[in-house]
Amino acid sequence: MSNPRYETEVLIIGSGPAGSTTSALLSNYGVKNMVVTKYGWLANSPRAHITNQRAMEVFRDLGIEEEIIQKAVPQELMGNNVFCTSLAGEELGRLYSWGNQPNRMADYTLASPTKICDIPQNLVEPIIVGAGARKGSKYKFDTEYISHEQDEAGVNVLCRDRLSGEEFSIRAQYLVGADGGNSKVAENLNLPYEGEMGVGGSMNIVFKMDLTKYVAHRPSALYWVMQPGSNVGGIGMGLVRMVRPWDEWLIVWGYDINDGPPEVNDDLAKEIAIKLVGDDSIPIEILQTSTWTVNHCYATKISDGKVFCMGDAIHRHPPSNGLGSNTSIQDAFNLAWKLASVVKGEANEGILDSYQKERGPIAKQIVDRANKSIEEFGPIFQSLGLGDNIEPEQMKANMEKLKDNNPASEQQREDLRKAIALKSYEFNCHGVELNQRYTSNAIFSDGTAEEEYLRDQELYYQASTRPGAHLPHVWLGDNGHQISTLDVSGKGKFTLFTGIGGEEWIQSAIEISKSLNIDIKVVQIGPDRDYTDLYGEWVTIRNIKDSGCLLIRPDFHIAFRATEVRKDAKEQLFNALNQVLGL
Ligand code: FDA
Repeated sequence: MSNPRYETEVLIIGSGPAGSTTSALLSNYGVKNMVVTKYGWLANSPRAHITNQRAMEVFRDLGIEEEIIQKAVPQELMGNNVFCTSLAGEELGRLYSWGNQPNRMADYTLASPTKICDIPQNLVEPIIVGAGARKGSKYKFDTEYISHEQDEAGVNVLCRDRLSGEEFSIRAQYLVGADGGNSKVAENLNLPYEGEMGVGGSMNIVFKMDLTKYVAHRPSALYWVMQPGSNVGGIGMGLVRMVRPWDEWLIVWGYDINDGPPEVNDDLAKEIAIKLVGDDSIPIEILQTSTWTVNHCYATKISDGKVFCMGDAIHRHPPSNGLGSNTSIQDAFNLAWKLASVVKGEANEGILDSYQKERGPIAKQIVDRANKSIEEFGPIFQSLGLGDNIEPEQMKANMEKLKDNNPASEQQREDLRKAIALKSYEFNCHGVELNQRYTSNAIFSDGTAEEEYLRDQELYYQASTRPGAHLPHVWLGDNGHQISTLDVSGKGKFTLFTGIGGEEWIQSAIEISKSLNIDIKVVQIGPDRDYTDLYGEWVTIRNIKDSGCLLIRPDFHIAFRATEVRKDAKEQLFNALNQVLGL
């Protein structure tokens, strides 16, 4: 490989949610990084949109939450998943979604200082890139990754300038492959995958059409349409998705993968859009069309030496549950602080092994969950007596039976209601979004048994302070202001939480911080201390005594927990940090 034209500490391939978030975090942590990305700009279509609370917490940590909220559609307008024969046609039922069901709202409010929202990928990416670039991230657009070679000290990466065709190399200490579902980095690493690509075929149609009269009274991010063909390929049913309320939309419509992708010209796109809307009198403008495949595939190894893959490069699945970009952002949050600690010489390279242990199982979990959600549309079709092949006449007749006054029709109505309720596992899956628990060397176990989930683990978030869990959010008092436990931690630092009587931990943290040359922020909670426990929520959730402590990693996961102060506090904390940092 030729002499490197550029040198950087971390080189990132791809400027999608995974790559841009990694870069922004590294720049915030003071690590030199460069992003190489294939095209002249960022995402050119809305793609991902549901932005869950864990992703919003990362944006809050980066200081861009407000900017995102300004461009996003709020939770309140996302909440009525509608199932219908067309937007103008009959409504089969609705499902409160994304935490909008009154008795689920509290779960979401209590879990995080942030709110779930809807922001299309082409609007969110420039905000994340801006957050990084302002702090020093270097972006090279129109630049394609070709290959890399690793040695003991780093990675040489061969790239091609797509404008001039010229090839050149970049030298980095570490390489991150955030180059999406067709990852060339993963291919060159020969990462092993399980599962199958191309299990279904699907198309996206982005269009302008003012549908206010059909949707404003039942605001939602998603409208599901049952029509002949809507159970072929795709994501379980025809989908009309809000891009901007209520005049820009994205249709997801399936095709039979065995027939190969159809040519979706404007005429076909209009025909499908008008069929799903059910009204040809409203002006329509097709903006964009594309085809894509439904995948059920995850990497069982996600890194190799000094190269780490993340995002769609390691988990390839349909958009069901809205987990794609959200999980990619969490991959970035997990890896970025570890890379920063190693680059700055604060941690041993061994800490990077924990990326595989912590994020590997999540890749499998979300790929399986998203694909299961497609299958779970089946009971809706079955409840209406519709088999694999939906004949328009049969569909109409079976749906008419729903309205009859007889025991069979009553049963059918009950089956349909239950089938729609089952879709909570796609649209109210708060536990899948928030319940990540890590086990690895970068977590110092306190020897306690894994706790049992008291409610359905997929549907409900359960706060925990067991090492490996995510720091629970509660509002603390800051002499007049209300501030989240997440606001006083993160930002690239370890944070030690303790209470009155925990002075030994505080002193130990200060001394260890100096001896290991790492930043440990200390937070003492109690009357007349750094923060007060405003609503008494910290005491009920922390699962330690006043004199105990929790040590939080920069990605909000709990590294160490001590129930109460001990004589050997300093040794305990020192051992824990040594293990976590792989020293
Ligand atoms: P992504 O594909 O976004 O980015 C890859 C980057 O790598 C791009 O910048 C590309 O240019 C670059 N690249 C590729 N090859 C390269 C090379 N050789 N050299 C240099 N650069 C290269 N997710 C979610 O969380 N919520 C949701 O609601 C939805 N909804 C949704 C709807 C639809 C219709 C789709 C198709 C997808 C979703 N998703 C989603 C999924 C989401 O879009 C996807 O998971 C994320 O974009 C993945 O982010 P990555 O950064 O991993 O890859």
